[in-house]
This record gives sequence, C-alpha cells and structure tokens, in this order.
Amino acid sequence: MSRLASLRPSITSPLSSVLRPVQTRGYHITMSLSTKLKPAARVSNQKQDVWSIINEAAAASPKQPIINMGQGFFGYNPPKFILDAAKEALDRVECNQYSPTKGRPRLTKAIADAYSPHWGRQINPNTEVTITTGANEGMLSAFMAFIEPGDEVIIFEPFFDQYISNIEMPGGKIVYVPLQPPADGAVRTSSAAEWTLDIEQLERAITPKTKMIVINTPHNPVGKVFSKDELQKIADLCVKNEIIILSDEVYDRLYYVPFTRIATLSPEVERLTITVGSAGKNFYATGWRVGWLLGPEHLIKYVSAAHTRICYSSVSPLQEACAVGFEQAEAQGFWDETIKDMKAKMDRFNTVWDELGLPYSEPEGGYFVLVNMAKVKLPEDYPFPPHVSSRPRDFKLAWFLIQEVGVAAIPPTEFYTDENAHLAEDYIRFAVCKEDAVLEGAKERLRGLKKYMS
Ligand SMILES: Cc1ncc(COP(=O)(O)O)c(C=O)c1O
Repeated sequence: MSRLASLRPSITSPLSSVLRPVQTRGYHITMSLSTKLKPAARVSNQKQDVWSIINEAAAASPKQPIINMGQGFFGYNPPKFILDAAKEALDRVECNQYSPTKGRPRLTKAIADAYSPHWGRQINPNTEVTITTGANEGMLSAFMAFIEPGDEVIIFEPFFDQYISNIEMPGGKIVYVPLQPPADGAVRTSSAAEWTLDIEQLERAITPKTKMIVINTPHNPVGKVFSKDELQKIADLCVKNEIIILSDEVYDRLYYVPFTRIATLSPEVERLTITVGSAGKNFYATGWRVGWLLGPEHLIKYVSAAHTRICYSSVSPLQEACAVGFEQAEAQGFWDETIKDMKAKMDRFNTVWDELGLPYSEPEGGYFVLVNMAKVKLPEDYPFPPHVSSRPRDFKLAWFLIQEVGVAAIPPTEFYTDENAHLAEDYIRFAVCKEDAVLEGAKERLRGLKKYMS
C-alpha cells in the first residue's frame, strides 16, 4: 500500500465510537484505534503466564516475607573471580562498546577451549561458536535461522516455556511428545531417570516436515539427565530423517550422574547438532544475559546471521567477565564445587519431604525438584480466585502453599499442553539455588503441610 493510500479515511466500522480524527502532515485521516493499536496475536492470545500469577500471589500473600522457591534465579552472587572480572571490564573503554556480533574473541576462544576436551577435538572459536543474549535469545536465533512457516519442531513435555513462542514466531508448528512420569510417583520417591521417553511415539511424531527437535538435558523441570542410550536412540532417528537437534544444555555443569552431550555421540550427529549454553546458569548470574551456541559452521553461521538482526551483539563487559570465568574455572576448582554445592542444597532441602512422607523425583541434574503432592488435601471450600480455580490442581496447590504456608513454587502443568497436563497436576517444582538459611526457613514452613495431609 502506498503511503498516500494509508492516509485515506478508513471505512467507518461498528467500532466508530473509538474512531478519532488524526492530523498527519496536513492530511486529515480517521484511524480506528481499536484496529490500528491491536496487538499481534503472538502476544495478545497468550493466557496469563505462570510467573506473573505466582509473583503477584506471592506479593499479595498474608504470609510475608514469602520464601520464593519458584523462579530459577540464584539467591547468592557469582564467585568473586568472576565478579572482579566484571568490575574490571567496566573500566576498559573497549569493553563498554559494541562487541563483534558473533561475540568477543576472548569469550569465543575461552568457550571453544573449555568445550574442546568434551568434543575430543579443538573447536574453532571463529566458526563454531556464537555468543547470544542468554541461551533464550540464542534459541530464538536458531529457530529464526532454520524455521520456515509450516515447518515442524518436536519438543518433549514438560518443556521450557520460552520454546513455544520462540518456535511460533518464525511460523513453526510444534509437535509435542510427553515424557512419561513413573506410574507410582504419587506413593514412592523415584529417580528423575524414571521419566521416560517412548521412542516409538517419538518416531511416530516425525513427518517429512519435521525440521528440528529440541532436547533439554539436564532437564528443567524434571531434573532428568538423558542417558547415552536414550540420546543415541533420539540421534539415530534424527540422522535417519535429517533433523536438526537443538540440545539445550544450560544446566551442563550441574549433573549428579554421568552426563553425555548428544553432539559428541558421532560425527554424523555432530553435523546436525546445535548445543546451547548459558553463563547465567554456569556462573550464578541469570541477569547477565550471556549465552552461546556451539555447532558446525554450516549451522552456526546462519544462527549468527539471525542473532545479528535480532539484537546485533550481546552485552560487552559481561562477555569479558564470562571469558575470565571460563579461563579460570577449572584451575579454581569451580566446576567441581558447583556440583558439590548444588547437590548438597538438593539433599538438604529434600529431607523435608522424607520427614513429611511426600514422594519426590530425585533429580539427576539441575537445581529443580518435583514433589508429588497427591497426599495434600486441599479444603473443598477454599476460595481460589477464578484464574487459579480454572487451572489444573497444581495451580491450586501452588496458590495454597503461598497463602497458607508462605512458600512460592511453580505448578509444572504450565509446561504442558492441556491434553497432557494431567501427567503433572499433582507435582510442584521447587528451585533449590538459594542460601542454606532460606532452604531451612522453607523447610520449617513446609512442615506446616502435615495438617493437610491424609
Ligand atoms: C531449560 C532452560 N533453557 C534455557 C533457559 C534460559 O537460559 P538464559 O537465562 O541463559 O536465557 C532456562 C532458564 O531458566 C532453562 O531452564
């Protein structure tokens, strides 16, 4: 439409009460605010997200201050050597200006060097690594780079919620395959390994339009670390059908059982795989928004091209600090410490479920634990607000915990389609990346659940 045509008076609609005359460069036009200001469906059609429901409920709860174990942010600072590096970077002129779109050379080199031993060969920092604004923007860039409208992307349920809009924005169609929870998860503490993938169901989900698959290991919220055998079966299907694997490994430094990276299974698999990492998760700095993608040049160069158009480059001084983090982490014993500390937090927190007799899914990695609350009886006449009572039982459990116990946690059915939400409606997700005193405080409050248990 020409610029002049766009300034012609619009046809009066039944909504004419909201039509306003507007003067633009001498032309009098009538614009329907309701039409012109209408947001795109990709943002307006979304139901209220879990983060705002839980955070608003927490702020309004009579039990103040609330102990927030909902969102996965750390309750403590990154280690001193990384914080010092960030402060020093701020004093350097070149660290306060644009970085190269693919990332600062010092960081791409530090990441290539840190991952090369796992790959069993030297990763090329110039062609096989690209820095992004958090893992999330990295994944958006990957979908933007490869998805055309109508292409299908397979994801497992439960999923990290950002995948959905990231896939839908370039027009991708999501195909869901649920992980099956242990059948007796309501009566017995089990291992996160017992959330299983039905490989035949995955195979049936593949069509000629399947362009990508997203896997997440260690997994949020289940805490599952996919075994080598499971990854091999997924990889075989991807090689057979030429499907790009987006392997979200943001919790790659937090594993309590052997951890395999799918890209390292074979050269055929590596050729199809983009591995995702996050400094936010690695260095306890989720607000720094530094992430990266690793993979073969024929994939990474297009991801970089998309990233250039989405945000040009990522935050410079914090890239520099992350470079120092990778350069020094091994020598400082930081990677071993991070596993030891988080596992200790997990064990410390989970004793409360053993005391209460509430079963949970013992995580193999990451910092989330799923607790099965089928035994908690919610009072029948409890006044849940409509936006909670209309959601599955885990939303009611989360609301009840906030109001009556003073602990905020996340209802995992948010990470499911409506069809499969029943699989997780008795579970609640707690993030243990908090100070030990906070974990102890939460345990004390959670003991109050005893009186609601059958
Ligand atoms: C599975 C998973 N992937 C990606 C992300 C996003 O990472 P970042 O904060 O680096 O964007 C998260 C954050 O919670 C996550 O849980």
